[in-house]
Amino acid sequence: MIIAVSGKGGTGKTLVSSLLIKSLMGSSKDILAIDADPDSNLPEALGISVERTVGDVREELKKDTAAGNIPSGANKWDILDYKIMESVMETPEFDLLVMGRPEGSGCYCAVNNMLRKIIETLSSNYDIIVIDTEAGLEHLSRRTTQNVDIMLVVTDTSKRGILTAQRIGELSKELDISFKELHLIVNRVKLDKEDEVLKKVSETGLNVIGTIYEDEIVSEYDSEGKPLINLPDDSNANAAISKIVNSLNLK
Ligand SMILES: Nc1ncnc2c1ncn2[C@@H]1O[C@H](COP(=O)(O)OP(=O)(O)OP(=O)(O)O)[C@@H](O)[C@H]1O
Ligand SMILES: [Mg+2]
Repeated sequence: MIIAVSGKGGTGKTLVSSLLIKSLMGSSKDILAIDADPDSNLPEALGISVERTVGDVREELKKDTAAGNIPSGANKWDILDYKIMESVMETPEFDLLVMGRPEGSGCYCAVNNMLRKIIETLSSNYDIIVIDTEAGLEHLSRRTTQNVDIMLVVTDTSKRGILTAQRIGELSKELDISFKELHLIVNRVKLDKEDEVLKKVSETGLNVIGTIYEDEIVSEYDSEGKPLINLPDDSNANAAISKIVNSLNLK
């Protein structure tokens, strides 16, 4: 089962991804988390520090090739596959792979273009893969998320957030990418504005699978750099994500 979390920048993708992983943790499933955002912050949200990203691996391989350190006859793709496997971080509860970006001013598209192949290679090793995608729509046009089963689009209550969510729905149709399921999560909802917001959001035509309230404790954890995965179990965000996990039958 491949689940991707997408949406406009800053809407709560990393919050949702990390709490999704937390909620799945006790389920005896083999879980892989992928941070596909070049401005990576899923490891912090999960309380992990990462030494090597796919971007780093790619740089190493480029340098080794230029220096003639690749044995003749060796298949570069096999070496890359092997090195990517090596850069998967293992924890007792889940594994984590960070795409990262190349050094310097290089375009990070090359790294992201590798993502689809990586997902294909790794998917047989895990029961559930959760991908925290880069903000916006490019993961669709690059087709890095085309094999995703469940697309969870996160929006905040802003008009632009909702518009991006709507565009993700429309663009996937235009590109003929048919997720088995596509749902919307509305984040940062103020209690007294819930009805108004849900009405606004219904105009997107997307199915709302969950609502997360604006919660001071989330901002507090973020500003103090505390891992979001350690948010109290009874916090609203955790309760909302558990409900979503149940309604998607993920456990
Ligand atoms: N329910 C919430 N209540 C309060 N603050 C929230 C809530 N959800 C997210 N935030 C705040 O919004 C900011 C963005 O959240 P998050 O990092 O999860 O979004 P993102 O979509 O992953 O962002 P980016 O596109 O930069 O990766 C964070 O500072 C977080 O503290
Ligand atoms: Mg993020």
